[in-house]
Amino acid sequence: MQNTFSLRKFTTSDLESVTRINRECLPENYTDFFFVDLYRRFPETFVVAEEDGKVVGYMMCRIEVGLSNLGFSGLIKKGHVVSVAVMLSYRRKHIGEALVNKAMENMLVYNAKQCYLEVRATNTPAVNLYKKLGFQVTRTIKGYYADGEDAYVMTKKL
Ligand SMILES: CC(C)(COP(=O)(O)OP(=O)(O)OC[C@H]1O[C@@H](n2cnc3c(N)ncnc32)[C@H](O)[C@@H]1OP(=O)(O)O)[C@@H](O)C(=O)NCCC(=O)NCCS
Repeated sequence: MQNTFSLRKFTTSDLESVTRINRECLPENYTDFFFVDLYRRFPETFVVAEEDGKVVGYMMCRIEVGLSNLGFSGLIKKGHVVSVAVMLSYRRKHIGEALVNKAMENMLVYNAKQCYLEVRATNTPAVNLYKKLGFQVTRTIKGYYADGEDAYVMTKKL
C-alpha cells in the first residue's frame, strides 16, 4: 500500500510542532535550545514525518565516539537516538519504522558504525519496533529513568 506520509529533514520552523509532539508523547522533555543544538550539530539525523500537511512525528539523534556496544574493541562512531515519537492518532502506520530507518541511513553520512538507544523496559510498542528493525538488547540500566524505571540499551550494527 502507498504511504500517506512523507519524510524530510527537520528545519527550525518545525520546532514548535516537534516540541508539542515531544510533550504529548513522552515524559522526557527538553528545552528549545536542546532541540536546535542537536539539529545544528547533526542536521542529517533529525528527521520529521508529515501527513495531512502537518508534522506528525520526529526523530532526533546525536553522533558520539565511544566503545562498541557489540563486543568488538576499539573506539567507533555511534548514532544515539535521543528522541522519537509519533502523534497518537497517526500510530501503527509504519511512520515510526520509516523515521528510524531514515535516520539510520543518514547516520552513515557521519560514518557511524552502530545505532543505539535507551528505551523503557515496559515500552512494548517501542521495544517491538526496534526488534523488528534488527536491534538487540545489549544492556539493562537499572533505575535509568527519573521515576526509577529500568532502561534497555538496544543496539544495531549499521
Ligand atoms: C514507538 C512509536 C514511535 C512507534 O510508532 P508507530 O509509527 O506507531 O510504529 P510503526 O507503525 O512504525 O510500527 C512498527 C512496528 O513496531 C511495533 N509496534 C508499534 N506499535 C506497537 C504497539 N502498540 N504494540 C505492539 N507493537 C507495536 C510493531 O512490531 C510494528 O510492526 P507491525 O505494524 O508490522 O506489527 C510510537 O508508539 C510512539 O510515538 N510512542 C510514544 C513515544 C515513545 O515511546 N517513543 C520511543 C521512546 S524510546
